[in-house]
Amino acid sequence: MLDYQRRGTVPEKHHIVFDRPDGKGVYYEECITRRGFDGAYAILYHAFPTTDDGAVRKTTRGWSAPIAANFEDQTLRRRLFDANKVPRGGQMLDCRIPVMFNCDLVMLLANPTQSDDAYFTNGDGDELVYVYAGSGKLESSFGWLPFKEGDYVWIPKGVIHRWHLEGEGHSFLVMEARKELRIPTQFRNATGQLKMDAPYCHRDFVRPEGMAWEPSQGAGGPHTVVYKVRDKFSERTMPHHPLDIVGWDGTMYPVAFPILKFQPRIGQIHLPPTAHMTFAGEGFIVCSFVPRVTDFHPKAIPCPYPHTSVDCDEVLLYIRGNFTSRKGVGPGCMSLHPMGVPHGPHPGAYERSIGSERTDELAVMVDTFVPLDITANALALETPEYHDTWKIQPK
Ligand SMILES: [Fe+2]
Repeated sequence: MLDYQRRGTVPEKHHIVFDRPDGKGVYYEECITRRGFDGAYAILYHAFPTTDDGAVRKTTRGWSAPIAANFEDQTLRRRLFDANKVPRGGQMLDCRIPVMFNCDLVMLLANPTQSDDAYFTNGDGDELVYVYAGSGKLESSFGWLPFKEGDYVWIPKGVIHRWHLEGEGHSFLVMEARKELRIPTQFRNATGQLKMDAPYCHRDFVRPEGMAWEPSQGAGGPHTVVYKVRDKFSERTMPHHPLDIVGWDGTMYPVAFPILKFQPRIGQIHLPPTAHMTFAGEGFIVCSFVPRVTDFHPKAIPCPYPHTSVDCDEVLLYIRGNFTSRKGVGPGCMSLHPMGVPHGPHPGAYERSIGSERTDELAVMVDTFVPLDITANALALETPEYHDTWKIQPK
């Protein structure tokens, strides 16, 4: 939830009569609210009643629920997964593969090749989708949101939408926050505005424009809308267009944030990775490592210091650049360093980094405060020898 926005036509106050311009009745208000009625909200105005739908039924659409792999396959070790091995094909609605999860977060990989032909609304939480490759537009009740490679796309819980792909080669990392996702509280001032020393400003965010439906389209149905709650998918048929919106306002709408708009912090000596925090959820944070100059103390060691972060699991998606602290990893690799297991630069990387002045790395990190379970899908992507790549080879 970023800031207040308004699009289209809305009445002078909420919850009052909104006459249709043709004199044939009124528009129908829909309030999407968080935390009961105490949190962020958006108010949308529909041409047709939102409850005018067909029976809810089971569906074959959607993706598989996250299920932990056998316990004996989950020995505590540093792991590396290759997201490039995820099969390519299908629609975003169907092709996601859950790879890691806990009670707060599900992480999924998707390499779709087709635009969605059905609408979807996720009742399990906010989605933060990192666009690792590809571009297109997100169609939703709030209008059209363009996205491109390197964008985070944040879709609040309960927003009806479809992914429209442009071109080929799309790859996504989906982070499904089981509770709310937010801008870190410390980035805002008392009025809610982003502070001047926040790592981004309001202008950096891309917001939806236009409307997905025009009154000239009429009812425009029927359309299928797929719902997910507790990882169970169902669908209903709307006799009219589900995005029949003439106007909306509020603070809860999809946004995109280009990762390279993130303003990195630099220290005289090495700052902890939390200095790169970009988004926060309940029980996890998302950090962006972007190209930057490195630490400037004359004796600085720009490489991350070895650490045992005993209270969090750490997932890192390597996107591009020279990952100075690692060997054997490349774009599309995703590491998991579980809590309680020490990790840090590979042998030699620590020393080699001394004196360097820049890093061109681009990576997304997710720290979770409850251990992650690994799915069988993730094991199929794993490079099993990764844990042992820290061994110092005898000279
Ligand atoms: Fe770490």
